[in-house]
Amino acid sequence: MSLLLHHPGRVVLLLLLLVFFACRGDPTGDTYDTSVCGPRVSATCGAVIVHYPFYLSNATKALPEYVNSSFCGYPGLEILCNGSKAVLRLGNDDYFVSRIDYPGATVSLADADVVGSSCPRVSHNVTIPQRWSLRLANTVGNLLFFFSCAFGASTHDGAAPKPLTCRSFDKGQGSRSSFLLPPADVPYGEWSRECEAIFSVPVLGDSLPVNPNDPAWTNGGYAEPLSKGFQVSWERSSGSGRCGRCEQTSGNCGFNQDGQFLGCFCANGLMDSDGCSKISDSTLRLAGKPLIILIKSL
Ligand SMILES: *[C@@H]1O[C@H](CO)[C@@H](O)[C@H](O)[C@H]1NC(C)=O
Ligand SMILES: *[C@@H]1O[C@H](CO)[C@@H](O)[C@H](O)[C@H]1NC(C)=O
Ligand SMILES: *[C@@H]1O[C@H](CO)[C@@H](O)[C@H](O)[C@H]1NC(C)=O
Ligand SMILES: *[C@@H]1O[C@H](CO)[C@@H](O)[C@H](O)[C@H]1NC(C)=O
Repeated sequence: MSLLLHHPGRVVLLLLLLVFFACRGDPTGDTYDTSVCGPRVSATCGAVIVHYPFYLSNATKALPEYVNSSFCGYPGLEILCNGSKAVLRLGNDDYFVSRIDYPGATVSLADADVVGSSCPRVSHNVTIPQRWSLRLANTVGNLLFFFSCAFGASTHDGAAPKPLTCRSFDKGQGSRSSFLLPPADVPYGEWSRECEAIFSVPVLGDSLPVNPNDPAWTNGGYAEPLSKGFQVSWERSSGSGRCGRCEQTSGNCGFNQDGQFLGCFCANGLMDSDGCSKISDSTLRLAGKPLIILIKSL
């Protein structure tokens, strides 16, 4: 005690260390590379800013001990940066990401198959894995794509929907026709049975056609709303779970491939099973180096 009294600086230091260790969660002992994954990482891919809860697909390589099973953010919010194109994969399909709105928790996507085409053919539904936190946003409207139907405009009266007429639909399909309609314009009955496939096409609510039989729409005008794409929103973690506690302590949550919480990536490069030190990131960053030097000099 008398030793400590003669060294007031050490008392302060010991108190700091006590506070530091008392406030820690449960360190796993694992470290990770803070330059590729973690609270301070933000990358750009083309014009898209990628940071938590999104992450670049190559970021998981920063965690060799969790290889094949790690995420530096929420399950499914993995961005592949291919050249200057940010790509998000939903099911087996690629979508170009044009924007991530972090405060609004929405991401703008467009089907990679249709972007840039003047007469696009949709070839799949949008499938979002159940366990992910993504949902179609409420800004989204819906169109139905009837592909290669066994009847054409000629078999219907004037009130029937008009088929698509742009280039990729006018050759090689015999008499078969395709249609892109809002659900309200689809005729009743067994109409759609004659079609090879039906796909649901999300578009922004304000991109829905005023008149889907307008030749400007059927002759390729529909390409623009498809290229513009749609929005999906993600759900933030709830405050009470382990991920919520991690985020409240300025950490980033990691999940395994099954969507289970893996650990909390803290700004100090350590992985914790729960939350990060309650000392704020900036305090820790400022205090980190002097503390280590002082511990050595004790
Ligand atoms: C990951 O990819 C991005 C974009 O291509 C690149 O800037 C970054 O250096 C890569 N990081 C790693 C760890 O490979
Ligand atoms: C990770 O996946 C690759 C390719 O699928 C495989 O070769 C490798 O053994 C896996 N590593 C671990 C640790 O499971
Ligand atoms: C990257 O883009 C090129 C050209 O668009 C494409 O051929 C390739 O398949 C893409 N790579 C991946 C991994 O998606
Ligand atoms: C796509 O979704 C539509 C509308 O929900 C459905 O009728 C159709 O069967 C689906 N198509 C495929 C190939 O799953």
